[in-house]
Amino acid sequence: KNILVLHGPNLNLLGTREPGVYGHVTLDEINAKLSAQAETKGAKLAHLQSNAEAALVDRIQQARTDGTDFIIINPAAFTHTSVAIRDALAAVAIPFVEVHLSNVHAREAFRKESYFSDIAVGVISGLGATGYELALQFALQHSVRS
Ligand code: DQA
Repeated sequence: KNILVLHGPNLNLLGTREPGVYGHVTLDEINAKLSAQAETKGAKLAHLQSNAEAALVDRIQQARTDGTDFIIINPAAFTHTSVAIRDALAAVAIPFVEVHLSNVHAREAFRKESYFSDIAVGVISGLGATGYELALQFALQHSVRS
């Protein structure tokens, strides 16, 4: 099983970025933990963080032919803006879970809107880095490829 984890803009700053909202764990620590978790189940994990919408769209398009079975994505600010990333996920038709470290519903009104939630398998928001681990656990247990 091949899992792709995508992290959107500013998530490279995790650990120092608004730690009261996003926690102290770094992106490297999150990715390392996820890779280890995947390995114990005999799965392969690839990950990409980008601040650029185009890079995320390109990586999702690549997933169509590289054997990716499941995507875990924290689109970060693009959650609330990106028709292009939504369309890319719809185009490749690979099931995905949307993850947010913070509870987007407990914050500014503009964060309640997501271009992803209605086409996601599910959404995890507010559980910090644990949210990624739970999404991965789900991805490893469920073999859903549409
Ligand atoms: C976020 C929530 C978004 O609203 C915000 O723009 C982010 C991170 C989260 O993980 O809580 O950058 O996706």
